[in-house]
Amino acid sequence: MTWVVVPAAGRGRRFGGERPKQYAPLAGRSVIECTLARVLAHPRVHAAMVVLAPDDAYWPGLREVAGKPVFTCWGGDERADSVLAGLQALPDSVIEDDPVLVHDAARPCVRVADIDRLLELGRRHAVGGLLAAPVRDTLKRADARGGVAATAPRDGLWRAFTPQLFRRGGLTRALQAAVRAGVAVTDEAMAMERLGLAPLLVEGAEDNIKVTTPADLAFAEFVLGRSREPGSGNGDL
Ligand code: CTP
Ligand code: MG
Repeated sequence: MTWVVVPAAGRGRRFGGERPKQYAPLAGRSVIECTLARVLAHPRVHAAMVVLAPDDAYWPGLREVAGKPVFTCWGGDERADSVLAGLQALPDSVIEDDPVLVHDAARPCVRVADIDRLLELGRRHAVGGLLAAPVRDTLKRADARGGVAATAPRDGLWRAFTPQLFRRGGLTRALQAAVRAGVAVTDEAMAMERLGLAPLLVEGAEDNIKVTTPADLAFAEFVLGRSREPGSGNGDL
């Protein structure tokens, strides 16, 4: 039984507006409903633990998506606190060595085929892994006045996405260590890397964007519309 922890306790400050971005309307429902429908559509993802802000006033109270159970718990101030809370809220039947997916509530365009590859490759790798894509643009380092100080080599640089797949015990300990050390880890892989471990990069589609600004929402709408077309391999998602 594979669980997905869905951190959804962020405020969406860069997105702006009254309601957090995970509740913005998308494709006739909300961003988080689209995200849950996508992840739980995978036949080997069996249940979701959604991590909410304690003062969340918008969660629609879903208990089931795609016929699979959805549970909730409270998150914390930083993403790492929220993911840790989600891992700790999983039932005891999820043992230390069981792989657990972590997927941003704000990433509604993830493809079933990419989750498939992550589950396959991540499970075989002792540490775990994450969806990611190689950097394609030229990278500039800015100076203090907004000019170009240097061009940074992009060889070997990847953009980290979610889902990320790690074993429950290993990820819990890595996040606890980061929180204790006061290190702001921005994804699960970074918590593992701090301990000298090397998560596997699994190349995924670049349109698995994180909704960060309202412009991203328009792009997500386009991606979801396109993937509903016949032959997309995603069925009626
Ligand atoms: N998240 C969370 N708990 C936090 C912070 C973030 O569960 N304390 C979640 C967000 O809800 C989101 C995911 O982590 O699904 C990725 O974070 P991000 O895109 O940074 O979302 P926000 O923190 O909400 O946005 P912003 O940084 O613009 O405020
Ligand atoms: Mg944030």
